[in-house]
Amino acid sequence: MNRTNLVLLKTLVWIGCLTPLLLLVWRAVNNSLGPDPTAEIASVTGLTAIWLLAATLAVSPLRALSPRLSWLVKFRRLLGLLMFFYASVHMLTWMGLYAGFDPGTIEADIEKRRFIFMGVATYLLVLPLAATSTTWSIRKLGGKNWNRLHMLIYLAALTAVAHYWWKVKTGVITPAPLTLVLAILLCARPILAWNRRRKARASAARV
Ligand code: HEM
Repeated sequence: MNRTNLVLLKTLVWIGCLTPLLLLVWRAVNNSLGPDPTAEIASVTGLTAIWLLAATLAVSPLRALSPRLSWLVKFRRLLGLLMFFYASVHMLTWMGLYAGFDPGTIEADIEKRRFIFMGVATYLLVLPLAATSTTWSIRKLGGKNWNRLHMLIYLAALTAVAHYWWKVKTGVITPAPLTLVLAILLCARPILAWNRRRKARASAARV
C-alpha cells in the first residue's frame, strides 16, 4: 500500500473509531441519552472497547492470509490505543458516575460484583500494553520480552468476554457474536504458529 492510501485509511480509521464518542457527546448535549445516561455511556464505551480489542487481535491472523495484507500491522498500535482510550473512558464513567470517585464504594463494588471485578482485571491487563506501546519501550524491553508481555492481550480478551457475559442478564445472548469472533481469533494463533513451523520445516528439508 502506498503512503497516500495509508494516510487516507488511517484518517478513516480515526474517524470511524471516534464516531461512537462524538455521537455520545452529541446525544449528551441534546439530552438524548435515554432514561439512564450513565448506563448508556458505559454501554457504548464498553462495547466499542471490546470490539476494538477484537480488531486489534484480528491484525495478525488477517496478515497471515496473504503477504499483500502486511500493511495491516501499521494499524495494530492505533487500534490498541483506541481500545485503551475507550476502556479508560468506560472505567472513569464507572468510577465517577456510578461510584462518585468514592474509594469505599469502588472497593465494595469490586468485592461484591464479579463482573466489575472482571472489568477491573481486564483494564489492569491492557494498561501495561498501552504503557509499553511506544517504539522506545520495544527497544528498552527487547523484542522478545515485549512480545511476551503483549501476549497479555489474549488473557485480556478472555477476561473481557467474562466481564461482558456476567454483566448481561441470564438468558440474554448479546455477547455471543463477539465471543465467537474472539474464539476464532484466539484459535487462529496456535494454528498460524503450527503452519509457520510446518512451512519452515518444509523449506529446510528442500535445502
Ligand atoms: C475498571 C474496569 C471496568 C469497569 C469498572 C467496568 C464496568 C462496567 C459496567 C458498570 C458496565 C455496565 C454498564 C451498564 O450499566 O449497562 C459494563 C459493561 C460493559 N463493559 Fe465494562 N468495565 C470495565 C472494563 C471494561 C473493559 C476493559 C472492557 C472491554 C475491553 C469492557 C467492556 C464492557 C462491555 C462490552 C459491557 C457491556 C455493554 C452492554 O452490554 O451494553 N469493560 N462495564
